Amino acid sequence: MTDPRNALHIDHLTMQFGGVVAVDDLTMDINEGEIVALIGPNGAGKTTAFNAVTGVYPPTNGEISFHGEPIVRARPAGKMKKLYQGDRSRIFTGPVLRPTPDRITGLGIARTFQNIRLFAGLTVLENVLLAQHLRRHSGFISAALHLNGEEERDRKARALELLDIAGLAGVRDEMAVSLPYGRQRLLEIIRALATGPSLLLLDEPAAGMNPQETLELARFIQKLRRDFALTVFVIEHHMDLVMNISDRVYVIEFGRLISQGTPAQVQADPAVIRAYLGGEDE
Ligand SMILES: Nc1ncnc2c1ncn2[C@@H]1O[C@H](COP(=O)(O)OP(=O)(O)O)[C@@H](O)[C@H]1O
Ligand SMILES: [Mg+2]
Repeated sequence: MTDPRNALHIDHLTMQFGGVVAVDDLTMDINEGEIVALIGPNGAGKTTAFNAVTGVYPPTNGEISFHGEPIVRARPAGKMKKLYQGDRSRIFTGPVLRPTPDRITGLGIARTFQNIRLFAGLTVLENVLLAQHLRRHSGFISAALHLNGEEERDRKARALELLDIAGLAGVRDEMAVSLPYGRQRLLEIIRALATGPSLLLLDEPAAGMNPQETLELARFIQKLRRDFALTVFVIEHHMDLVMNISDRVYVIEFGRLISQGTPAQVQADPAVIRAYLGGEDE
């Protein structure tokens, strides 16, 4: 039973690395058009959850659905049968689903990375051109950069339009990694957009940004949601950005859900305050 408005459903997701439980029985929902944040102290399992959604790691247990369609399904197998520390090893009985990251991109789910991953040897524009290509054809990187005639002009025009949205059209021919840090983060978002997603996952997009840049980023994310009819799933360590833009917030600590609700509800939750105060001592 799925609501068509339910863009992403994460169902009892567990991700263990050996005996280490990074994500522990996490269930969450993101409706179409929402901006939903996943927050929690360092090491809480946020990036690992993204990695499970995007096909980077096959989870230990759980199911992930995109618009009601299961895209990831796992249950403890092999050595994990012994190591699995949960008690839901038998609830997902359908065929195991282990999509590659390319396949996830093809479905319309795009992401950015906590540690920026731009293509170092390519210009700003080439980074976007390559991403456009990845949506349709996985592989064949050289083909993406050597199109001919009309197709090349079309692609370039669309890439420049996207760059323009982020104020990056003027630096199209500079090497991507030579941009200041804040602009590299914007370029990563544009590159993700170039794959034509309906769901955009942002992993700590404000990391390394100053307060002014963070404020601009908040407006930028809201503008993208509107203009591209996006659903946004954002990981953030900084409460201010999250509280500013999120419709709803999920909070995890040690892989486990400790709170969820509107930004105001979550901010007032003693469990959240404890988790954050505890984390700051380290
Ligand atoms: N590939 C991996 N192998 C082993 N342990 C990992 C791996 N990736 C993450 N972890 C562990 O999982 C936990 C959660 O990490 P992570 O998801 O990166 O946290 P967050 O993004 O919330 O800071 C950490 O204890 C981390 O060391
Ligand atoms: Mg992380």
